[in-house]
Amino acid sequence: MPDGQVLELAGLTKRFGAVSAVDDLTARIEPGQVTGFLGPNGAGKTTSLRMLLGLVRPTAGTATIGGKRYVDLENPLQSVGAALEASSFHPGRSAAKHLTAYAQAAGLPRARVDEVLGLVGLADVAGRRVGGFSLGMRQRLGLATALLGDPGVLVLDEPSNGLDPEGIRWMRSLLRHLAEEGRTVLISSHLLAEVQQTVDALLIISRGRLVFQGGIEDLADPDEFSTVVDSTDRPALSRVLDEQGIEYQLLRNGFTIRHHDPIGIGALAASNGVALSNLQSKGASLEDIFLELVSGVRVHASAGAPTSQDEVPDAATPNDPSAVTEPPVAQPVVAESAASTPSDDPGDADDPRPSTALVAVMAPPRAASRVASAPAAESPRRSYAVASTGVIDIVPRPDAPAHENEEGQR
Ligand SMILES: Nc1ncnc2c1ncn2[C@@H]1O[C@H](COP(=O)(O)OP(=O)(O)OP(=O)(O)O)[C@@H](O)[C@H]1O
Ligand SMILES: [Mg+2]
Repeated sequence: MPDGQVLELAGLTKRFGAVSAVDDLTARIEPGQVTGFLGPNGAGKTTSLRMLLGLVRPTAGTATIGGKRYVDLENPLQSVGAALEASSFHPGRSAAKHLTAYAQAAGLPRARVDEVLGLVGLADVAGRRVGGFSLGMRQRLGLATALLGDPGVLVLDEPSNGLDPEGIRWMRSLLRHLAEEGRTVLISSHLLAEVQQTVDALLIISRGRLVFQGGIEDLADPDEFSTVVDSTDRPALSRVLDEQGIEYQLLRNGFTIRHHDPIGIGALAASNGVALSNLQSKGASLEDIFLELVSGVRVHASAGAPTSQDEVPDAATPNDPSAVTEPPVAQPVVAESAASTPSDDPGDADDPRPSTALVAVMAPPRAASRVASAPAAESPRRSYAVASTGVIDIVPRPDAPAHENEEGQR
């Protein structure tokens, strides 16, 4: 197995006419872990992955795999396994034929086809035409294609789409296993809940811009957690809290105490002989935090710069005559990822965008040219700014030098 490689996105930008699909995305994806690439529909996930795989030419910036652009890889199929569009297989071919064609093109032994078919649970339907495959079966075939060359890097676009619960669990353990072997595993999803148990690291984008990068444990600030405690003898409990100078809010479900964990509060009550009827930890769910990040209500330091979505054109509609559809600049060597067009792109057909009214009012104005994102090596700090408070805890870095785009062109 080839080694896992670092994937590096540096100032990656893609504009389709007036549509800013990916905007100065700088991020680093490490080997040996599963990284979730998250964002709502139309956020720019597929476009970013297509740039990484040399299928779309960046407007600016670079995307590299182990320091090389995809097009410069010596053995692409053995280096990077990718599955972008599960529905783009030739419908008349059987699963085995599809894989055999790829294996032959890459000089891989025929036996590898049977191996990967077994690995993804498609051995029984290997001879069936792909046109009759269910969505989940197509996903499995996409993964089989990606795994064919036993690559050190796996890039999977929404791999859980269409899988049943058992399939999702199977995919989860397979991806974890592949990462534990040292591979780089990057999976996209528009649902945090779908990948929460699978990923170690997260990259979250919204409207083409980075809004978070870091470990999943860095998403929530520990200070956001509070303890809810109650007793049948509320006067006794409030007396103990008052004596300690601990502030609380008495609500119907008991005393809510911010910045204190249940262990300390429980011990305090016990040492004062107050019997508790309830003691629990409360905090914003990861899903809440995710939604706040992508809507711009919450800003995280790891994004490196405040978002200013008022400058992002809202013209990301399929009928926008200025939106330019580009053909892929290189033939996909890995998965059969047909060039998506505005009409076949789900992000195009339906482009639900989170409300950003609050952000447009609260976010500080962006400099005329781009503000650089956080340097990849910088670890996320646990500081937050919630736009509704009017406090933005992020200092924009000086303007990045203009992207020359030389490396992105072929
Ligand atoms: N070939 C294209 N021509 C014009 N606009 C495009 C093209 N491809 C993508 N876009 C636009 O770029 C933006 C990002 O699309 P992209 O498909 O990358 O989003 P996504 O995050 O993958 O969304 P989803 O979760 O729906 O798959 C969207 O506004 C989309 O309409
Ligand atoms: Mg997509």
